[in-house]
Amino acid sequence: MAPIPHSGHPAVEAYLAEGYDSVVGMSSRFAAAVCARLLRLQTEEGVAGPIAEIGAFEGRFFIALAHALEPGEIALGIDIFEWPNPQVKDRFEANCLKHGIAPERRVTIKADAGAMSPAELTGHANGDKLRFIHVDGEHSRAALGKDLALATACLAEGGLIVLDDMLHPGYPTLMVAVQEYLTANPDIVPLCIIDRETIVGATKFVLCQRDWFERYQAAMLTIFAEQIWPLGADFEPHWCLVLSLDTRLAEIT
Ligand SMILES: C[S@@+](CC[C@H](N)C(=O)[O-])C[C@H]1O[C@@H](n2cnc3c(N)ncnc32)[C@H](O)[C@@H]1O
Repeated sequence: MAPIPHSGHPAVEAYLAEGYDSVVGMSSRFAAAVCARLLRLQTEEGVAGPIAEIGAFEGRFFIALAHALEPGEIALGIDIFEWPNPQVKDRFEANCLKHGIAPERRVTIKADAGAMSPAELTGHANGDKLRFIHVDGEHSRAALGKDLALATACLAEGGLIVLDDMLHPGYPTLMVAVQEYLTANPDIVPLCIIDRETIVGATKFVLCQRDWFERYQAAMLTIFAEQIWPLGADFEPHWCLVLSLDTRLAEIT
């Protein structure tokens, strides 16, 4: 098995080692480390600004992302905060505090992402566009379509959109929404696929602007050299990297 990559941030490493599993949530540690490292890559490439998560829940993934921010950058946590009960918002805020994300570094937004306008969302970040958006809200085809439209309208130059629960056996129609979106938005392409760790820590797709693809991929070939699955992903005709902890190929002899 390949190792989990270094996130590039001491605070993220400490949280992944000591806090991540204690916060109730669904995303994998592998995906959190990859996404934190991608945030570092953006910083290295001069891309700065706020980030957001649609579907913050109790904060497991959100806290990892927030620890990867540069000084002065903030993280927006959006959720309807009703499931499984309304106290989930208090647990989100308590988890952020407990794991080192102070109130001035985050904004808690209790809202239906599907009913939000781009101006409303960026308004929570002083009107700045977002450099990273993790989409992990309602898992219906229609809702993902709306969340993708919102994320695209709010995306900064060099920004990344990360989609959770892709290729998940429980949500097969999400892939249809992604295909429709990619066809309708030719300026956005898949940058990489982060393979699943378990059925709960599911696969994520990372999308970027077409103009940024080569630049990001060139750096990722080195950064994630140990996690690259050799065959890559065929998005017909676009190809992108597959990052996995299991980089074996099928034995054919
Ligand atoms: C799978 S959980 C997110 C898990 C979390 N990102 C993590 O990694 O631990 C999905 C979340 O999306 C939220 N959600 C569902 N529909 C939503 C909507 N329309 N707007 C905002 N959040 C929504 C749910 O309340 C739930 O907390």
